Amino acid sequence: MTNITATSKVFGRRKGKRLSSRQKENIKIHLSKYSVFKSCAEGSYKLQKVDLTNLFGNLKDYELEIGFGMGDHLFQKALVQTTTGFLGCEVFENGVASLLTRIRNKKLKNVFIHPGNCVDLLDNLRGAKLSAIHLLFPDPWPKNKHHKRRFFTTENIDKMCYALKKGGSIFVATDIEEYAGQISSSMEKRTDFKAENYLIKEFKSPLGSKFKTKFERKAYALNRVPKYMVFKRVA
Ligand SMILES: C[S@@+](CC[C@H](N)C(=O)[O-])C[C@H]1O[C@@H](n2cnc3c(N)ncnc32)[C@H](O)[C@@H]1O
Repeated sequence: MTNITATSKVFGRRKGKRLSSRQKENIKIHLSKYSVFKSCAEGSYKLQKVDLTNLFGNLKDYELEIGFGMGDHLFQKALVQTTTGFLGCEVFENGVASLLTRIRNKKLKNVFIHPGNCVDLLDNLRGAKLSAIHLLFPDPWPKNKHHKRRFFTTENIDKMCYALKKGGSIFVATDIEEYAGQISSSMEKRTDFKAENYLIKEFKSPLGSKFKTKFERKAYALNRVPKYMVFKRVA
C-alpha cells in the first residue's frame, strides 16, 4: 500500500547554514537517484514498503543509520563495506547535502537516503532483516519537559526490532549520562534484546577507534566521555 506524508512530526532543526548553489543543484537534480522513496512535493514522499533487493540489487547485508548528521560515519562505512547496503536517514538538509556530495563524488552504489523522518522509514522496513541500526548521538533533549521527544520510546524500539534480523544489533552512542541510563533501562526491560559488551574498537569496527562523528568530537571537546552501547536482537 502506498501513502504520502508531509506531516509526520519531527523536532529539531531542518535547515542550518545556507546551502551553496552547487549543493542546491545537487539536491534538486541528484537526490531522487539516491532516495529510498519517491518525492512527490517539497517534504512529501510516497511511502511504501522498502524492497531492499530492488533498491540495492543483491548485496550481502543491510544496515541503517538514523540521524546521520553530516554523514561522516555512513559515508566511511559505505566506502569500506562495499558488499553492505546502507540506508541513511536525516532531516537536516545540510547533512543530506553533505552526504549526497560525497557519495556522488565516490560514485557509491551502496547508499540510499531518506531525507525525512526516520519513523516513516522504519515503518516501511518491517521484516527487512537489517544486520545493524546505528544511532550515534541521538538528540538528547536535556530539559525534562522535552524528554518525550527522545527517540528511545517503546514504540520506536519495537519498530527497530521489526526491522532487524534475529542476531542483528542496535549500536547507540551518547555523551549524556542520564540519557544513556534511560536507554539502558528501557532496553533491559525487554526480552527481545540483550545488551552486549563491546570495546570501543569493536563498536567502531571497521573504521578504527580514532574515527569520530561531529557530535562525538564535540563531546570529547567538552570532556564528556560517551557511552557506547550495543543491543542484540535475540527474539
Ligand atoms: C545530535 S545529532 C547527531 C548527528 C551525527 N549522528 C553525529 O554523531 O554527528 C542528531 C541528528 O539526528 C537527526 N534527527 C533528529 N530527529 C530525526 C528524525 N526524526 N529523523 C531523522 N533524523 C533525525 C538530527 O537532524 C541530527 O542531525
